[in-house]
Amino acid sequence: MDHEQHEAIARWERRWLSVAGLMSLAFVILITIALATEGTHIAQRSSRAAPAQLTSLELFANPGVTALGPGRYRVAVVAQSFTFTPSEIRLPVGAEAEFYLTSRDVLHGFQIQSTAVNVEVIPGEVSYLRYTFDQPGEYRVSCNEYCGIGHQNMIAKVSVVPSSQLAQAEAAPAAAPGEAVFTANCAACHQANGQGVPGAFPPLAGHAADLAAADRSYPLAVVLHGLQGPISVAGTTYNGVMPAWGQLSDEQIAEVLNYITTGWDSEAALGEGFAPYTADEVAVERANARTPTDVHALREQLGLE
Ligand code: CUA
Repeated sequence: MDHEQHEAIARWERRWLSVAGLMSLAFVILITIALATEGTHIAQRSSRAAPAQLTSLELFANPGVTALGPGRYRVAVVAQSFTFTPSEIRLPVGAEAEFYLTSRDVLHGFQIQSTAVNVEVIPGEVSYLRYTFDQPGEYRVSCNEYCGIGHQNMIAKVSVVPSSQLAQAEAAPAAAPGEAVFTANCAACHQANGQGVPGAFPPLAGHAADLAAADRSYPLAVVLHGLQGPISVAGTTYNGVMPAWGQLSDEQIAEVLNYITTGWDSEAALGEGFAPYTADEVAVERANARTPTDVHALREQLGLE
C-alpha cells in the first residue's frame, strides 16, 4: 500500500469517528432535554424486595393506592406473569402519584399510555417514580418486556376521575367477590369466558368443576402451589407453568375456587351437594409444602381421561 492509500483510509476513519462522536453527543443532548422538559425521570432503586418475601413487606403485602396527604398518593404495584396487582389504579384528577413497583418473578415492563411513565420492573428491586395525572381519563398500562407466552395479555389501567366520582366508586358494592379475584389475577391467561387459549392456557369453564368433582383438594393445590408438567384437557396438550398464588388470602382463594367451579354454567359437572370451598380448607392445604411438580403428580393420580 502506498502513502496515498494510507492517507485515504485515515481520512475515512476520522470521518466515521466524527460521525459516531456527534451521534453520542446528540443522544446526550436529547436525553438531557427530555429530563429537563418532558417529565422524564430516571427510575431510582430506592430499596430491594426479595420476591419470596413480598407478602411480609408492608409496601407490597396489599398492593394498591394509599393516600399520603392532600393530592398525594402512594401506588404499590406487583407484577407477575401475566398480571399487575392491582389491575386497576383509581386516582383523582391532579393526583401526584408515587409509584413503587416490583416483580414477583421475571423482568416486566410498566408503561402508562400517553404519559412519560415507562419503567422496567425488576425482580428483587423496587422501581420508584413520580407522576402527576392532570388529565382525567383511562390510561392503559402494558408490560413492554417480553415475559412469556401470556405477555400480550399483561395489561392494567389507571383511571383518573374527578374526586367526587372516586368517592362514589368506593361506596358502590363490589362485584361478586370471586369474580373480582378472577378478573384481577386469572383472566389474563384463562380468559374472562373461562375458555383459556388452546395449546397455551387450559380452559377452566367446565374443566375446573370436573377436577373438583374428581378430588376437591386438587384445584386448591393448583392455585396455592402452582402446576408444572404436561397435561391434557379435552384432547389438547398444555405444557406451560401455572404460577403459585399463595400471596392471595385464604378467603380470596376460596372465593375464586367457588367462582371457577360454578361459573360459566358448570354447576352440573360438580354434582349434587358439592359444598363451596371455605377459607379454612385453604388454610389446611396451605400448610402442605408442595412444589408445582408435586401438584402435577397429584393430577396424574386423579385418573382423568
Ligand atoms: Cu410481563 Cu411482558
